[in-house]
Formats: sequence, C-alpha cells, structure tokens
Amino acid sequence: MKKLPVVSRTHVFKNRKQILKNPIPFHHDNFNRLGDTFEVAVGLKKRIIFTRQAKFIKQILQTKQKHYQKSSLQTVDLAKYIGRGLLTSNGEHWRNHRRMIQPAFHKRKLQGLLQIMYQAIKGELSKIKAGEIQDIYPLMGDLAFQVVATSLFSRDDIQVQMSALKEITEANQRMLIQEMRQPYLNWWYKFSGKINRHIKLSLKARAILSSIIKERLAQDSEKDDLMDMLLKATYEDGSRMPEKQLIDEILILFAAGHETTANALGFILFLLAKHPEKQEKAFAEINAIDWTEGIEMESLRKLAYVKQCIEEGMRLYPPAYYIDRESIIKDEIEDYEIPENSMLLLAIYELHRDSRFWESPNAFQPERFDPANKRDYSDYYFPFGGGPRMCIGNNFAMQEMILTVAEILRSFTLRPVDDEVLINPLISLKPVSVKLHFIPR
Ligand code: HEM
Repeated sequence: MKKLPVVSRTHVFKNRKQILKNPIPFHHDNFNRLGDTFEVAVGLKKRIIFTRQAKFIKQILQTKQKHYQKSSLQTVDLAKYIGRGLLTSNGEHWRNHRRMIQPAFHKRKLQGLLQIMYQAIKGELSKIKAGEIQDIYPLMGDLAFQVVATSLFSRDDIQVQMSALKEITEANQRMLIQEMRQPYLNWWYKFSGKINRHIKLSLKARAILSSIIKERLAQDSEKDDLMDMLLKATYEDGSRMPEKQLIDEILILFAAGHETTANALGFILFLLAKHPEKQEKAFAEINAIDWTEGIEMESLRKLAYVKQCIEEGMRLYPPAYYIDRESIIKDEIEDYEIPENSMLLLAIYELHRDSRFWESPNAFQPERFDPANKRDYSDYYFPFGGGPRMCIGNNFAMQEMILTVAEILRSFTLRPVDDEVLINPLISLKPVSVKLHFIPR
C-alpha cells in the first residue's frame, strides 16, 4: 500500500485567504506537486482525501459505491435547511425514495413536461432587452427556478409564494457557504442565533409548500406534472409519502435543480458568445427547425450540435466541481488504503481538464462530443455524477438547457463584454457575472 502525500496544516493556514476566495488554483498546485491523490490536514485531527484520478473516482461512484456514502456536508449541514430527501439521505431511506421518484424523471414523462417547460422559458427570456448589454446570470437563476416550479405545480398564479421560496432557498445556501468556508466561526453562528434564523426561514418555506400541497389535494384533479407523480408514488407496502417527506423532496428539487442549471447555462452562453463560429453552427441547426407550431420532442432531438455545446460547457465548467463522499468501511483503491470514515472530495473540474484524457483540454471544442467520433468519455466525464446516485434530473436539465439555448440563439446573436468569465466556486461552480450583448437577428 502506498502512503498518501499530505498537504500540511501550515500550508493550508498560509493559503487560507486564497482557499476562501477560490480553492481551485490551490488544489491544482497540490495535484501538480503531489500527484493525483493526496490528503489535506484540516483542523486538529481531520483529513480530507482529494482525488482527480479517473479510476479512483469511477470506483467510488460506481464499482465500489457500496463502500461509500454522501458525507455529513450534505446529510447534516445541508439537510438541516432542506430536510432529508434524495440529495441529503443515505441507505434504505435514500433507496426507497429514489425508486419512488425515478419514474417522474423518465424520458416519457419529460415529453409531457415539454410544453410547460417551454412556456416558462419563453416567459423568462421575454425579459431580455434587444440590442442591450445584460448580465444574463441572474435571469438564468430566475429561469431555472421558474422551470422547476412550473414543472412541479403547473400553475402560474403562485408567483408571490415562488419568489419567497426562491429567496429563502438562496439565503439558506449563502448561510451554508459561510458555515463551510469558515467552520471556525460555527460556534458564533449558533451562539448569535444566525443559524436559528435560517432554520426559521426554512419553516416558512415549508409552510408555503404545505398550503400548495393542501390546495392540490383538495382539487382532486389530474395534472400530469411532477407534483402529481410525487403524490401518486407509493412505498412497497402501497402507502403514499407523508406530507413532511413530500416537502423535503420538493425543497430538494428546488435546491438541486435550479442553481446547477443556472450556472451551467451562464457558462455555456458565455462560451457561445466568445466563439462566434460555434454559435453560428448552432444557430444554423436551430434555424433549420420549423418553430411556427412551437416545439416538439422530435425537433429537440435534431439539436445535436446544441447538445454538444452544452456537454462541452459542462466539461469546462462542471457546476458540481467537487463531489463529496465518506467511506463506510476500510477500503483499498489504486494502491491506497482508505481508512473507515474518511472524507473524500472528487475533483471533477480537474478531471474534466486533464490533458491525459482531453486534447487541448482548455479549449471549447463541442465537436469532441459528436457521436460520430465514437469516443467514449464515460470513464472521465462526470457532470451529473455517476453510479446509482447520478443526478436524477439529468435529462430534465438537458431538455431545459437545449430549449433555453435554442430560444436565445433563435432571436439574438451573442457577443461577450468581457474576455474571460470569472468563476465563483461556492457549493457549486458559479460565474460571477455573464455580461452579454444581445444583438437582434
Ligand atoms: C446542469 C444541471 C445539473 C447538474 C450539473 C447536476 C449535477 C448533479 C450531480 C453531480 C449530482 C450527484 C451528486 C453526488 O453524487 O453527490 C446530482 C444529484 C441530484 N440532482 Fe442534479 N444536476 C443538475 C440538475 C438537476 C435538476 C434540474 C434536478 C431536478 C429538477 C436535479 C436533481 C437532483 C437530485 C434530486 C439529486 C440527488 C439524486 C440522488 O442522490 O439520488 N438536478 N446532480
């Protein structure tokens, strides 16, 4: 067994300001100095294993997934705000609910959501001011939230409640980031009542959802939206989800589904703006479709190059740039011994830009995802994670992103204002802003 190289506590302390601002360059340097897998000493006893080794990552997510589970970052820290649902649970509880919720995200179901999704996207995109420069990132946040909200409830008369829900989701995420980035202040956050104030906000969100669920149950009509699927899903004994669990799952769909998609869209639109020739190639494909009757699943499937642009955007800027796990038992992977209860961070951003797997890794080349090239990237491309805990909303997100990119490029030529997009690596990888010039076509 090889011993893992260690990044010392002193080295972490010396670089704490940089780590707080953006940990990616610090760890990139560690990977280059120490190799593909190393340990970082944090606090007095704790160690975190970082890896960008493709085989290692695949084993943790897939082949040896039974030896690993979600870490307390999600099952405790995040769960205190959004409850115990798919994203934040482990073991039997997770397995039961994954089995129940999976059918709601089946491709056939997504077809049923296509028109609702498209109307929500068109509604949000109508806020773009033609000919002007606009930061598209906040709009993508509203759009992604609205798409989850309308796909869940198929109602447009609850805007006030949805805005409150969005504010609460985002405020709690900001709090969680403070807790994760400055864990030495956690005693103060508790003592000063800050955490309690955010837990009260969560209770407000739960009350909003509870009244929406009660209204739906009172109507007793079929809607064929995500809410309907959740209400009808049954446990093995035939019983339905209790209201508390329903609310946990809904809060999680909002938390997991809105920011990630907004981030990905922000980066993808920037990349298209920066590469006019790729943008025109995507536009030609979009323009070849007849949009007069709206959009059909069949037309969506024709947008193969748009899909490649999205896949390439998520390679360069994976919203889930680190995936966390903890080992349940002692394990051995790739000549390393992994003690029981180790915390692991899988460096997806690093893996997606590893020159051993990707030619010109920092270049935007959507064509690399062209199926005609017959390259199988599944061993080193994980924008939606992998194995049994792979993103349940991956097809939903793809459908939403293809529709959004197509709808924007149909009306506008995009030009960037800045030469580079600045990144803001928090829980997910965000762009700081995405200022674009929207030139009418
Ligand atoms: C571009 C957009 C998205 C990205 C990049 C993304 C990424 C991910 C990743 C990497 C995971 C796995 C995390 C892990 O293994 O620890 C995940 C899980 C999850 N995602 Fe997504 N996601 C996106 C959109 C969505 C959407 C739209 C929804 C729902 C509407 C959603 C719902 C979930 C849920 C519920 C889980 C937990 C699944 C489980 O553990 O069984 N995601 N996502």
